[in-house]
Amino acid sequence: MVIQCRVLEGFHRVPFARFTSSHTNDRCDREPGMVMIGASVDDRPAALAVVFFSADHENALLESIFVDPSARRLGVGRRLLETAEAICIERSIRTLRGSWYHDAPSASSIGSLIDACGWSSPEETSIVHRAGRRGLEHVDRTNRVWRPPGGFKVESWSELSVADLASIDALQGEYGIPSGLHPEGEPMLAVSESTSVVLRRGDEIVGWMVNHLIGSETLRYSSLWLRPDLVGRGFGISITIESIRRHLAVVDRLPRLIFQVARENDAMHRFVQRRLEPEIERSSTLLRSERVL
Ligand SMILES: CC(C)(COP(=O)(O)OP(=O)(O)OC[C@H]1O[C@@H](n2cnc3c(N)ncnc32)[C@H](O)[C@@H]1OP(=O)(O)O)[C@@H](O)C(=O)NCCC(=O)NCCS
Repeated sequence: MVIQCRVLEGFHRVPFARFTSSHTNDRCDREPGMVMIGASVDDRPAALAVVFFSADHENALLESIFVDPSARRLGVGRRLLETAEAICIERSIRTLRGSWYHDAPSASSIGSLIDACGWSSPEETSIVHRAGRRGLEHVDRTNRVWRPPGGFKVESWSELSVADLASIDALQGEYGIPSGLHPEGEPMLAVSESTSVVLRRGDEIVGWMVNHLIGSETLRYSSLWLRPDLVGRGFGISITIESIRRHLAVVDRLPRLIFQVARENDAMHRFVQRRLEPEIERSSTLLRSERVL
């Protein structure tokens, strides 16, 4: 049995495309930082790893790894991972990271593979919750309409001017806030303008809840941010509820939602537990591991 791993370019990618999602394939076509590494067993396509390299060449993320079920436990996954690590070393990258859900069907085999390959013990980084219309209706029913304190107001993303968008970019730069869940931002995903909101104090934008459209029927609550001096005053929960109400207005078109709560965000965990728990359909812990090269 001969296992061969190589970086795939152009049409050589086609036979391996089925080993990852259509979203990741789209990203590979459009984003220069995405590298596809294919593995063949006796010249037959058998597996794919996709690694994302950040523009500053400091980080690399293992976006996906998949071995055809008929080729598992033959050492293919290990060879692919070693090839990905070697490519990182060639590019002077110090750390390769990966994340996966604790309840994914593949979670235990991924955990075993990275353990066998010397990666760090998996760490819980956040919880990802999924809900539907009933969750939105529950929040709407159980929360009073919010009246922002004097000087503050909530505005729809669709009302923002070009200057506002520039000020958001500037805040993202100043505070190092990624525009989505991905560390490099998410140019491929469209912001949902009718449901995303900003918090303004006077003319200044001081917070937001940004939602992205993922797939045809899901809204992802991607980025909740508040200026640090406003944290702890209930603004975060309030603008989240404002966004949920706007989502409810378009729920026929977008019946599903997904959101992620960082491990250390106690206020949001409490909110989810007290006010949303019965309507959550699935909650998964996101695990992260890395290999220092
Ligand atoms: C995880 C996965 C990539 C492993 O690939 P693989 O080619 O079977 O792994 P290898 O044969 O190289 O295994 C290397 C080592 O990892 C460990 N390992 C891998 N799979 C394992 C399993 N199912 N159970 C226990 N240990 C496992 C073992 O230590 C193994 O060494 P050994 O066979 O000498 O004991 C493969 O099972 C897979 O593709 N699963 C689905 C992943 C998925 O859904 N990806 C999509 C989202 S990213």
